Amino acid sequence: MTSRRNPGKKLSETSPPAAHSTPKVEFAETTPYDAYVRASTLADLQRTATNVPGEYMFLVCSQIMELYFNLLAFEWRNAQKALRGDDLGEALVTLRRSVDHFTALNGSWVSFRWMTPADFNAFREELGEASGFQSFLYRHVEFLLGYKDPALLRPHKHVAGDHYQRLQEAFAEPTLYDDVLAYLSRHGFDVPTEVLARDTSTTYEAHDGVEDVWVAVYGQTEHGDPLRDLAELLTDLAEAFSDWRYRHLMAVRRSMGAKIGTGGSAGVTWLERSLVRQAFPELWSARTRI
Ligand code: HEM
Repeated sequence: MTSRRNPGKKLSETSPPAAHSTPKVEFAETTPYDAYVRASTLADLQRTATNVPGEYMFLVCSQIMELYFNLLAFEWRNAQKALRGDDLGEALVTLRRSVDHFTALNGSWVSFRWMTPADFNAFREELGEASGFQSFLYRHVEFLLGYKDPALLRPHKHVAGDHYQRLQEAFAEPTLYDDVLAYLSRHGFDVPTEVLARDTSTTYEAHDGVEDVWVAVYGQTEHGDPLRDLAELLTDLAEAFSDWRYRHLMAVRRSMGAKIGTGGSAGVTWLERSLVRQAFPELWSARTRI
């Protein structure tokens, strides 16, 4: 890595600062920090429709979650690349990091706890028909985890930039789990051929043969074995995703009860149905047999 203050020089080559050094405070243009982090751009993105403080919180937290969805998708695509290159070590580092991101993402729900229906009603009308249901970054995450309903592509056709195209690619391409199973197949596990050749543009369906594979992985490994780590990290991810859904549902229950959603769904009862869906299903069913 090169130094920003001394382009061309490696960071490790810049001389250590004297003990009395203070940070630089004069800059000819915007600060190098702002140029890199774009905090001024970020701070301009919270355009609320009201002066209700709860709306500002709602918008900031929604944006934070969107950023985390994007980060998770980035990490998992990298994990997929590593698995395809048979670099399990790199895939594990990436997956472990994404479990930590999920913890931070799910922690954001704490900011919603204070919100009563009266607080939400104070700005809810301003949302119009806007709903998290229309989040294309959340859909990207769901597609990578194996839940693919073509109807969920439709709302995003007119989203600016290349986001719709990228979402379509994520819809058609193998999920993270498909890449994990392909890796296990290349490394001696008997993954059924029909699973390896499945149409990856459909929702992943549980298969008894894959359950057998996980029973074998757990049977042949101890804690600390990379394959055991792979199984446990995927389990962590599936659990963290369920946590996100559950925390979302509780925030909805607290702030709007059983009202109809702004996106047009039945609200709580509609969301409750998705709670039973579990990512990487055989990692859960195999546990009964281990
Ligand atoms: C108190 C705050 C919130 C309420 C009351 C709420 C309400 C709802 C409701 C009722 C739905 C069902 C669809 C509809 O008819 O609108 C929904 C879906 C959804 N919301 Fe929220 N939401 C809240 C906060 C958030 C936040 C902060 C995010 C993060 C981006 C988010 C993301 C989503 C997503 C991704 C869905 C679709 C879930 C799925 O397809 O299974 N929501 N929300």
